[in-house]
Amino acid sequence: MTDAPPPSLPFDLDGFERSAALNLDPATFAYLANGSGSNTTRDANRSAWDAWALRPHVLRDVSRIDTATTVLGAPVDLPVLVAPTAMQRMAWTDGELAMARATAAARTVLVTSMAASYSVEEVAAVAPDGTRWAQLYLLRDAGRTRALAERARDAGYAAIVLTVDGAAVPYGRRRLADGLTLAQPFSFPNMLLPGEPLDTPLTSLVNDFDPATTGADIERLASWSGLPVVVKGVLRGDDALHAVDHGAAAVVVSNHGGRTHDGCVATAVALAEVADAVAGRVEVYVDGGIRAGIDVARALALGARAVLVGRPTLWGLAVDGTPGVVAVLDALREELVRVMAFCGAPTLADLSRDLVEPATREHPRP
Ligand SMILES: Cc1cc2nc3c(=O)[nH]c(=O)nc-3n(C[C@H](O)[C@H](O)[C@H](O)COP(=O)(O)O)c2cc1C
Repeated sequence: MTDAPPPSLPFDLDGFERSAALNLDPATFAYLANGSGSNTTRDANRSAWDAWALRPHVLRDVSRIDTATTVLGAPVDLPVLVAPTAMQRMAWTDGELAMARATAAARTVLVTSMAASYSVEEVAAVAPDGTRWAQLYLLRDAGRTRALAERARDAGYAAIVLTVDGAAVPYGRRRLADGLTLAQPFSFPNMLLPGEPLDTPLTSLVNDFDPATTGADIERLASWSGLPVVVKGVLRGDDALHAVDHGAAAVVVSNHGGRTHDGCVATAVALAEVADAVAGRVEVYVDGGIRAGIDVARALALGARAVLVGRPTLWGLAVDGTPGVVAVLDALREELVRVMAFCGAPTLADLSRDLVEPATREHPRP
């Protein structure tokens, strides 16, 4: 709960991106920043949020603003979760560990990637009180996926996030890495089977997603882990319903930050259809291009329970490790507080659909 007046320091997440670009070598920055193809989808994700204009309420008491909510029953201080991103040691020496400390300090949820540079157990150990979800893909080598789901459960992760937007990856990627060569040796501790040494070469597995993944796999993962399964990478209402019918506990509207296939619908466009189709049966989250508190408010008005942010947290990490990520999350919270006050919405539940409209609506005739 924040008492008025909220802090009003101007904050520029793009400035964090520029600083990160200076701190990282160009190939690493390009790997983190790029989308696939011509970056059309990555960039459309950002501009599509701007295409929603606010229709603020006035004459509402906004002397107190509350950004707290719950996700899958877990309390969070702000509706901004940290998206899974691979190999965070590329951005900061102790990558995922620094990210986990920051996420716990900000009292929100960390989603740890299957391709993390630290193990799910190491990430859990540095911030044991934080809420963590474990992201994974169904690999063709399903035993490794199952082993990770069981390890995540045993390490106290509260949910599995099954990413389902990788079906085209086994058929080849178009321009993502721009000449990146991984620092050797780069290990993937979450893909190891029990007893395998850390230096087992697993790089070839990182993209070896099972292209035969279907709705039935949601049920399989839930039974392996005993955890709720969040399905990430949905862009259509019918697919969201299909996932829910197969036991999804929540869905994430996501196109992977424009990194899987270019030329795809922006998430700010897809969100309302998914939220309407699901109609409250499960929670809906969204990611892609969220760079300001106003984007968070737009997403919640369109039906999301919370958003995830990917690259901004990597820029925070690359600039200053844990304090850098905390600064990014704090800035998003402070901006959200200001937008909620502007909209006459003292709680997140007050961010209703009528608060947004397409910015390009023609002016009514006088
Ligand atoms: C460098 C990088 C690595 C990523 N790795 C993963 C991953 O391992 N698993 C996954 O589900 N999504 C991954 N994503 C996608 C993010 O979870 C998220 O969907 C996306 O970054 C959101 O868009 P934003 O970066 O514009 O916020 C990755 C994104 C980036 C930028």
